[in-house]
Amino acid sequence: MSLALSPELERLIALAREVQKRAYAPYSRFLVGAALETRSGKFFSGCNVENATYGATICAERGAIMQMVAAGERELVRVAVVTDAPEPAMPCGICRQVLVEFGTDVEIACAVPSGVRVLTLRELFPEPFRLKP
Ligand code: THU
Repeated sequence: MSLALSPELERLIALAREVQKRAYAPYSRFLVGAALETRSGKFFSGCNVENATYGATICAERGAIMQMVAAGERELVRVAVVTDAPEPAMPCGICRQVLVEFGTDVEIACAVPSGVRVLTLRELFPEPFRLKP
């Protein structure tokens, strides 16, 4: 877990912490907030939204991506994911595939109260599915 964070990541983690408060997770009680920054300097955020069917649950990361695309943005630069877990929670497999659609040189910060783990999307998901290689 890293000690000194860039101001960009600090800002993104603060945004993710704000939206985490609005997570709808009555089934798992695992509240997640995600925030992302685009190449043009815009910010979007999302929280997990669970469902009684469980399978219809949307993760925080995908919520943020939907906001980004709907706003006309498509190029990710960095992402923060925050939880209250003892260890940083990494984006799930589906979210990794959705994130990689919009950038490979993406910095990911996974933050918990005890620290932050920073890595790249390439490290996290080195061989994604590509329709056109
Ligand atoms: N969750 C996310 O929001 N992001 C992830 O990358 C993994 C899991 C949510 C889904 C569900 O509401 C809760 O965390 C427990 O799995």
